[in-house]
Amino acid sequence: MMNRRDFTGTLAGALAGTAFSGFSAFVPEGRHARRLALNAARLNAHLKELSAFGANPQGGVSRVAYSDFDRAGRTYVMELMRAAGLEPRVDFAGNIWGARPGTAPSLKPIVFGSHVDSVPEGGNFDGTVGSLSAIEVAQSLAEQRIRTRHPLEVVIWANEEGGLYGSRAVSGQLTAPELANKAWSGKTIDDGVAFIGGTPARIAEVRRQPGDIATYLELHIEQGGNLEREGLNIGVVEGIVGIKQWEVTIAGFQNHAGTTPMDRRQDALLSAARFVEMVNRVVRAEPGRQVGTVGRIQAFPGAPNVIPGRVVCSLELRDLDAAKIDRLYAAIEGEARKIGELNGTTFEYRSLHENVPAPSDPAVRAIIDQVTKDLGYTARHMPSGAGHDAQAMAQLGPMGMIFIPSIGGISHSPKEFSTAEDIARGANVLMSAVLLADKR
Ligand code: HGY
Ligand code: MN
Ligand code: MN
Repeated sequence: MMNRRDFTGTLAGALAGTAFSGFSAFVPEGRHARRLALNAARLNAHLKELSAFGANPQGGVSRVAYSDFDRAGRTYVMELMRAAGLEPRVDFAGNIWGARPGTAPSLKPIVFGSHVDSVPEGGNFDGTVGSLSAIEVAQSLAEQRIRTRHPLEVVIWANEEGGLYGSRAVSGQLTAPELANKAWSGKTIDDGVAFIGGTPARIAEVRRQPGDIATYLELHIEQGGNLEREGLNIGVVEGIVGIKQWEVTIAGFQNHAGTTPMDRRQDALLSAARFVEMVNRVVRAEPGRQVGTVGRIQAFPGAPNVIPGRVVCSLELRDLDAAKIDRLYAAIEGEARKIGELNGTTFEYRSLHENVPAPSDPAVRAIIDQVTKDLGYTARHMPSGAGHDAQAMAQLGPMGMIFIPSIGGISHSPKEFSTAEDIARGANVLMSAVLLADKR
């Protein structure tokens, strides 16, 4: 599996083989279609530089939202935006915006971007490919003096990985109690937003209304193995799954591990073990692509000679159908009650956040299909099992997502990898889709 060294090697190839910058986007202008150059070597070099912020020994990145690494990475990205002619502005939710005026300012903006925060021990491509490609598109348009009719807005979303906090603030889906949630950085959302230059008290003012945008486009790695397995260049996303996350507290009775007989225990961790197995069983019991995960678990007090009296774990359910998520949750709650009855433990659930499922817009899918064909790339339509800021933006206007292959289908891991060529192809599709959307 390629890691940082291979990543550098491939990049060196990209830099040396300036043929890469020959990758060009197709500007559909009737018979006199022009080919625009996108500087793919520069894009891949920027990705390599960004990967240094929060680099971990395994070759990936731990640039969690609201951390020092996140703030430093955002500062670097804002420098790239300035070089691209986009004066970066941080909104009250911590999102970074860069505007490029159009010739018809009355038109609604075409918005495109992604995120640069990562999961703990994440990879170098999740979010960053779409973010830096968006900046590269703006820079290439500026360098070739292409002025679109629509205003363009490049956006770098805040805290995507924690639960689309920045984009849900803009779509109006973020609720006030969520600001008290704890992020991976250890800060509350409130403190974290302030740490990266936002103003939590005014977060509601970033909200935009349905119809405020002409189109939202996001380029992203697939984070699955379909495109690579089928030897395809581009994925045209049909829709993005809904995600619901809860914090589950399992209460038992803390006691001495040596003097408490096995048949007189209220062992919260035993219940938790049975809960984890049951979630997997319930979610797999029905046909479909739904997924359920317990990704985090903590037993208290966490000493070998103490029977855990309390366990806190996470529960996450995903599916394209929100009703199925609710049905699975109800089934899990019922089964958990039975587990508790067996050894005197109880289960409590606290909702952490919800990402609503979002279909992409058929007209935007058709644009991505068209430009992918014009560029001579192979593609297929597919759903997204990963959540994205695009699902929040679908509340405000027509949304479309472009996928490029993830090698081995690996993501949220230092082993996450996409090739410089695929990144260049994805950026070209993004640029061409922006230009074609501008003509519609
Ligand atoms: O968790 C997700 O699906 C996304 O990568 N934030
Ligand atoms: Mn992502
Ligand atoms: Mn992710």
